[in-house]
Amino acid sequence: MSVASQSETALAEAEAAVELPPIGSRERYDALMATMTNRVTVRKFDAAYTVPDEHYAMILEAARHAPSGANAQPWQFVVVRDRGVKEQITEYFVAEQRFRAKAKMKFPTPDYRGLATAPGFVVVCSDMRWVNAFPVLNDGSDLDRMYKENAERILLQSVAAATMSSHLAAASLGYCVWWVTAIGQENAQKAMKPLLGIPEEISVLDIMLFGPPAGKPYKRWRKPIEEIVHMDKYDRSTLMSDAELQDWIANRRKLVMYKDAARVD
Ligand SMILES: Cc1cc2nc3c(=O)[nH]c(=O)nc-3n(C[C@H](O)[C@H](O)[C@H](O)COP(=O)(O)O)c2cc1C
Repeated sequence: MSVASQSETALAEAEAAVELPPIGSRERYDALMATMTNRVTVRKFDAAYTVPDEHYAMILEAARHAPSGANAQPWQFVVVRDRGVKEQITEYFVAEQRFRAKAKMKFPTPDYRGLATAPGFVVVCSDMRWVNAFPVLNDGSDLDRMYKENAERILLQSVAAATMSSHLAAASLGYCVWWVTAIGQENAQKAMKPLLGIPEEISVLDIMLFGPPAGKPYKRWRKPIEEIVHMDKYDRSTLMSDAELQDWIANRRKLVMYKDAARVD
């Protein structure tokens, strides 16, 4: 069978496999929501636990089914099982944490030493050249710049969709998770890529950590639904002024990020 007809067969099989529940039936919704509402971040794990390879496969299988712009599937995942490498990556983040404190960013940065405790450790990457799979002109014009910016958003949203799918799969298996993005900077890329043999063309976008929690996990505050949903027309009464937003960042942010605002986790 030729490669083309092989892939046609695979596509036909994939299309035939869609199976939807009756509209409005609750069974899948309830199971999904049980996973969603109980997916929580922890920043310290039970380091003695070992993730079976089968779980990595199950969790990353969920990523594979995520939607993506142009169905480009612009994601790559590097599973890190080596404790020494985890520790080296952790060292970078702890140094970054110190830098942020010195730079007075006033961001309540978490304790990144917990990274080394994560039994499940997946570095999420993308080949940014995939932006060319989305509507772009590539003629260097202002219009092109605008489309390129949007193309980058499409790519990042796509990788986030896959990352979220994996986080939910991990939560459905009973794990707590941790989504770490503090790595977009050039220095972070330079520090991490050689440790994992990641090619120049590939960008590290985030790290997904998971495992049994070291302590008791807790659920974080959520905005009430009326504050985020608009029926037919945007309800401007929910719109924050610049001053209100600044006040939220200065005074409320730390309260919603951690259970105990005086003690980051
Ligand atoms: C896009 C994204 C980026 C995040 N980046 C970081 C990060 O760099 N470091 C960190 O400790 N947590 C990070 N988080 C975790 C959030 O702080 C956490 O999801 C949020 O406080 C809500 O808590 P919950 O996950 O328990 O619901 C990130 C989460 C998302 C979705």
